Amino acid sequence: MQDKLTLMIPGPTPVPERVLKALSQHPIGHRSGEFQLLVKKTTELLKWLHQTQNDVLTISGSGTAAMEAGIINTLSKGDKVLCGSNGKFGERWVKVCKAYELDVEVIQSNWGEPLDTEAFKNALNSDTAKNIKAVIITHSETSTGVINDLKTISNYVHEHGTALTIADCVTSLGACNVPMDEWNIDVIASGSQKGYMLPPGLSFVAMSEKAWQAYDHSNLPKFYLDLNSYRKTVQKDSNPFTPAVNLYFALDASLKMMQEEGLTKIFERHERQKLATQEAIKAMGLSLFAAEGYGSPAITAVEPKGLDAEKIRKIVKDKFDILLAGGQDHLKGKIFRIGHLGFVSDRDIITAISSIEFALSYLNVLKNPMGSGSKAAAKYLN
Ligand SMILES: Cc1ncc(COP(=O)(O)O)c(C=O)c1O
Repeated sequence: MQDKLTLMIPGPTPVPERVLKALSQHPIGHRSGEFQLLVKKTTELLKWLHQTQNDVLTISGSGTAAMEAGIINTLSKGDKVLCGSNGKFGERWVKVCKAYELDVEVIQSNWGEPLDTEAFKNALNSDTAKNIKAVIITHSETSTGVINDLKTISNYVHEHGTALTIADCVTSLGACNVPMDEWNIDVIASGSQKGYMLPPGLSFVAMSEKAWQAYDHSNLPKFYLDLNSYRKTVQKDSNPFTPAVNLYFALDASLKMMQEEGLTKIFERHERQKLATQEAIKAMGLSLFAAEGYGSPAITAVEPKGLDAEKIRKIVKDKFDILLAGGQDHLKGKIFRIGHLGFVSDRDIITAISSIEFALSYLNVLKNPMGSGSKAAAKYLN
């Protein structure tokens, strides 16, 4: 049977019925009182999700718009920044920074390894002249399924005093604890098609008071993504341009669902599904790509050594209509990635695990007895 596609990729993620229904309403005027109420409600809930008293601004655009906004609103041409890079999205930070002619020092780790927190500490400690204006990292590196230690790195940045912490939390926000204020994070970028359980199209930037002080000196060119215009209008429960009105309906519905579940339960669910997936993969004789202890709560990257990862992915798609993500760049064919982010139930995990086991069996490469993966997952899902 076709038309029963299950997305198990790290975005876009599945969208709940309630959210789809909200999305399908007639648009309303974006300067109406009704829309203002929507902006007010969603902004409050976004602050709750970010665990912050800071401004959280909604942009019509994808996650990269939020990343770029974070850079151009806080930095100036020639500013020295440290960029963490251990995957495709770390590389994207470097590209954005270079596009705006920042002086980028890249702190690199191999793909699959976490960023080395000590390298950040040393670079910040030796910067007695306080030249470093920002430390820019990806929290959950979607391309490799690695979670970086944002809390520790942000703490070093805070001790440095001058630099800002700018974080891509596109696949961590709504999946694990990211308490913006408690961890002293200055800028958080995220996007709707991930833990928010929404279609693509909205992105979010949260800015600390320190980040707004940096805004006053920032001279990088900006217009559509000038966050001051979003800040001024959000104070009047509005938006500077015509926003994606229907996505606001959906955002309101999804944030309410998140609030009903509660942050602790959301984080526990992602943790449980991560552990179930990791253990199942190991039990069926495959390897995890992320270093031990650094698997992301949102994505598990699987390295089926000696096998073509694309063949496994294709069987899972063709036979079961479950979409897994492939490897990017040099990892194409070497890994596949299971997204367990957002609107994912334990049933989805069991189905994906069983389908992967089936695909291995179909290819005649299943090392362990059929059902080993599900049995291992059951320990966490029971
Ligand atoms: C960690 C991370 N950062 C940034 C992005 C970019 O988001 P977008 O494709 O919405 O611009 C993604 C999207 O997959 C991501 O996973």
